[in-house]
Amino acid sequence: MNRKEILVSPIVHVLGARPNFVKAAPVIGALRAAGAEQAVIHTGQHYDARMSEIFFDELGLPEPDVNLGVGSGGHAEQTAALMVGLEREFTSRSPVLVIVYGDVNSTIAAALVAAKLHIPVAHVEAGLRSFDMTMPEEVNRRLTDQLSDICLVTSPEGIGHLANEGVAVERAHLVGNPMIDTLLANLDSFDTGRVREAHGLPDRYVLATMHRPANVDAPETAAALVRHLHGVADLADLVIPVHPRGRANLLAAGLDDHDRVHVLEPLGYIDFIAAVRGAAAVVTDSGGLQEETTILGVPCLTVRPNTERPITITHGTNRLVTFEELVPGVRKVLESGAQAGERRPPLWDGHAGPRIAEVVMAFLGGNGALG
Ligand code: UD1
Repeated sequence: MNRKEILVSPIVHVLGARPNFVKAAPVIGALRAAGAEQAVIHTGQHYDARMSEIFFDELGLPEPDVNLGVGSGGHAEQTAALMVGLEREFTSRSPVLVIVYGDVNSTIAAALVAAKLHIPVAHVEAGLRSFDMTMPEEVNRRLTDQLSDICLVTSPEGIGHLANEGVAVERAHLVGNPMIDTLLANLDSFDTGRVREAHGLPDRYVLATMHRPANVDAPETAAALVRHLHGVADLADLVIPVHPRGRANLLAAGLDDHDRVHVLEPLGYIDFIAAVRGAAAVVTDSGGLQEETTILGVPCLTVRPNTERPITITHGTNRLVTFEELVPGVRKVLESGAQAGERRPPLWDGHAGPRIAEVVMAFLGGNGALG
């Protein structure tokens, strides 16, 4: 261990999956501006260049200090491998604080390991609840919040959810949404015309993303979904960058057997949001995209029975639909030519990163970690 490492223990960010990278960029930037010593551990939960590297490059994230290369696996296998690797890293790096993001398996693994090593944990995107414990993300969210010393909340109702679960009120901080910081910071780069040209897209299209286990893991469900997506493509061209999860099932069910379906590889952040910005409507089961479409004013149909982000319905463009409601829902949007509303959730203003840095630095100062 060199002198610098002995004198200054870092804040360690644990990043594993695509949405983590988008949320972490403004937090790391704001903590850098505040003069914090930081390290980044990439767990390797996402590892394809299109799922990981391109995000680090485009978002100006620092090169990870280490990549654990954990990769894919069942929940137990993946979470166990994450925990073993993270315990080794936390033990050798002695972080003053571990910051975790969102609701993926890397998030809960890092929170659990840190708590048992008595390292404080900050959770970015705390307090969201779908109240659907069949989703692995809901399990991860609830447990991570219980283990966190600092709960950084994106949406006002999250404060109530935490209170209902007995999280001490002084742990919860409404800071806004760092994913929206990244969106607003890159607004000038989202060139829809360039993306249309690069991928041969028509002027008017619906953009779809589908990767939830409940929608794509079972072949018969994936086949039913494909039938409804073909119904959407009967109305307008359908552009679908396909997440690796579900790719095999969706293609086996004939996803691209329709003249107006454009199946793409996963896109990087800039091209993806540019494609979203230019879409007449978005069809998705993603969490983050419900938020991004709200800010971009693009109508969003979320193919799920619930959402942990209800504010995107009350303050945004989002609507939940069943498989059967999908085609009529898209038709209605296309016919009405729905325009963006002016409403925006509170504190989704591009300054969540600096607010998070302020809370974190105050916590560390109070803990004596800053001398
Ligand atoms: C994970 C998160 C999910 C999040 C999503 C964003 C959990 C439990 N789920 O889901 O909340 O919405 O990331 O993308 O953490 N794969 C590749 N290359 C990769 C990564 C994955 O081919 O770089 C394939 C593998 O076949 C893998 C499958 O995708 O088995 C699923 O990956 P995994 O990280 O387990 O979950 P996601 O579905 O990506």
